[in-house]
Amino acid sequence: MLVCDCNDVHFDAIKEAVKQHGSDIETIMEITNAGTACECCLEKDCEKVDLPLPLAIQRALEEL
Ligand code: FES
Repeated sequence: MLVCDCNDVHFDAIKEAVKQHGSDIETIMEITNAGTACECCLEKDCEKVDLPLPLAIQRALEEL
C-alpha cells in the first residue's frame, strides 16, 4: 500500500518505523523520507497515494 509516491514509501515501512520510534509524524518523516518532497501525502485527502501519511500512522498504531 503506497503511502508516499515521491519517495516510494509503503505502509510496511511506516508500520515498522512506528513500532520502533513511535507515532510522531516528524520523526516518521525523518526516518522513512515519507512526506519530504511534494508534501501531498501529508494531507489526508492526497490522491497520489493509497494511504496518506497521517492515516498510515494511525493505522499502524491500531495494528501494533
Ligand atoms: S507523495 Fe509524499 S512527498 Fe510527494
